[in-house]
Amino acid sequence: MNHSLHLTINGTAHEIVLDDPRVTLLDLLRERLDLTGTKKGCDRGQCGACTILVDGRRVVSCLSLALSFDGADILTIEGLARDGELHPVQAAFIAHDGFQCGYCTPGQIMSAVGLISEGQAEGDVERVREGMSGNLCRCGAYAGITEAVIEAHGAMTQADREKAA
Ligand code: FES
Ligand code: FES
Repeated sequence: MNHSLHLTINGTAHEIVLDDPRVTLLDLLRERLDLTGTKKGCDRGQCGACTILVDGRRVVSCLSLALSFDGADILTIEGLARDGELHPVQAAFIAHDGFQCGYCTPGQIMSAVGLISEGQAEGDVERVREGMSGNLCRCGAYAGITEAVIEAHGAMTQADREKAA
């Protein structure tokens, strides 16, 4: 039996037909829509590599059944840069070496965008670390990641922060 689903992904409306109700948002993005920027790490909600924003909120897409999100507005790493310009969080990750191998980076960046939008990234290192604690980095690039989140928060206006996600 087929199931239809309407999603807006990175500003584009999609009408999707699923033949399996168990498809996760992560697999839908990666395997059916070729949006492979969102990474699969653990596939069980423990690493944060698959973090995306759904209606502005951070979601681990590996634990999210796509059919549960009919009508949702989804932002992935592919939709973050606008008009050829990196999002301030992306630029800050580069400036602060917030990555090594880069596998966790899309999830880290999407989580950081969500954190800033939630108003939880105001300059306090411990608060940022706590807010980003669901995103693991096997390379241990945590110092640069934290610095990048704090710098991006400072570089963005309040209006930018609120609409970031
Ligand atoms: S792949 Fe989703 S949390 Fe690890
Ligand atoms: S940069 Fe390698 S896992 Fe984070």
